[in-house]
Amino acid sequence: MKTLENAKKSLETKGYLDIETPGIEYIKEIKKLKKEKNAILLAHYYQIDEIQEIADFVGDSLALAQEAAKTNAAMIVFAGVHFMAETAKILNPTKKVLLPDLLAGCSLADSCPADKFSDFKKQHPNHIVVTYINCSAEIKALSDYVCTSSNAKKIIDSIPKEQPIIFAPDKNLGDYLNKETGREMLLWDGACMVHEAFSMEKLIDLYKEHPDAVLIAHPESEAHMLKVAKYIGSTSGLLNYVKNSEHKKFIVATEAGILFQMMQDNPDKHIIPAPAKEDNTCACSECAYMKMNTLKKLYLCLKHELPSIEVDAELAKKAIVPIERMLELSK
Ligand code: 13P
Ligand code: SF4
Repeated sequence: MKTLENAKKSLETKGYLDIETPGIEYIKEIKKLKKEKNAILLAHYYQIDEIQEIADFVGDSLALAQEAAKTNAAMIVFAGVHFMAETAKILNPTKKVLLPDLLAGCSLADSCPADKFSDFKKQHPNHIVVTYINCSAEIKALSDYVCTSSNAKKIIDSIPKEQPIIFAPDKNLGDYLNKETGREMLLWDGACMVHEAFSMEKLIDLYKEHPDAVLIAHPESEAHMLKVAKYIGSTSGLLNYVKNSEHKKFIVATEAGILFQMMQDNPDKHIIPAPAKEDNTCACSECAYMKMNTLKKLYLCLKHELPSIEVDAELAKKAIVPIERMLELSK
């Protein structure tokens, strides 16, 4: 019995167990610990509302990487997924980088294993490699440029037209970029399950109910969604579009966490999440990985300074090159 208790305690200390702890005011404690430890809390727009609310900075993938690179805080707590925290660690290796749940991965990053991608790259020796930031450090180390959905077109346009390119891991974003840039990039066959979950059939029904709504979509969505979208952009692009648009009603095809900021920015506008194929309680598409971060895990992670992200120094040395190229081109 004692051994089981000890084992549980040790797992809890490492932040791996989510045992109920009654009487703790998580928001108050998180704020206190952040101050005591000089920690910065970075959160992506797909995080739960409560985490976005207490974060020091909320942004899209590019803005979060830029913030992680320049912060003077002693510690970075990343309320996002693994590849985001890993990128922060690569950019700012002397800081402790914490991720509330180490299992917060990404289906898109998982769709591109390093050994298979390395073989693919070897089959196309004349191509240079542009990868979406949603990939592992190993894939970044095999890349010439990293990009996000906010700067992908700019980065691809900076490469001479005659240079053949492999784009990985997102085939939907890659296909969209091929159309936008007039290129024929070779696409890796990866995708994000959250952005492939939208139902065209249900979307048509929703349109019948709201014929005055404007569809806006993240470029990780499938081609048939993008074809009918009035605006396509990254999470920050979508937020800016709604803020600056004269329209009053929007159907938003991306992860539903974005609605928190969008509704706060536009209390006078009607914002509807695009429906998912599967029937679920939110009638929207949510990223199970992003939603692994809870207030409790955030509190435990700050308290115990675990789990922390470590990246092998040799790997980081290779992976930082394409990330820095991206940051340089995004100034
Ligand atoms: P952006 O915030 O850069 O648009 O990325 C969306 C996403 O899927 C993050 O995982
Ligand atoms: Fe990955 Fe898609 Fe989740 Fe973003 S929304 S973290 S791309 S699975």
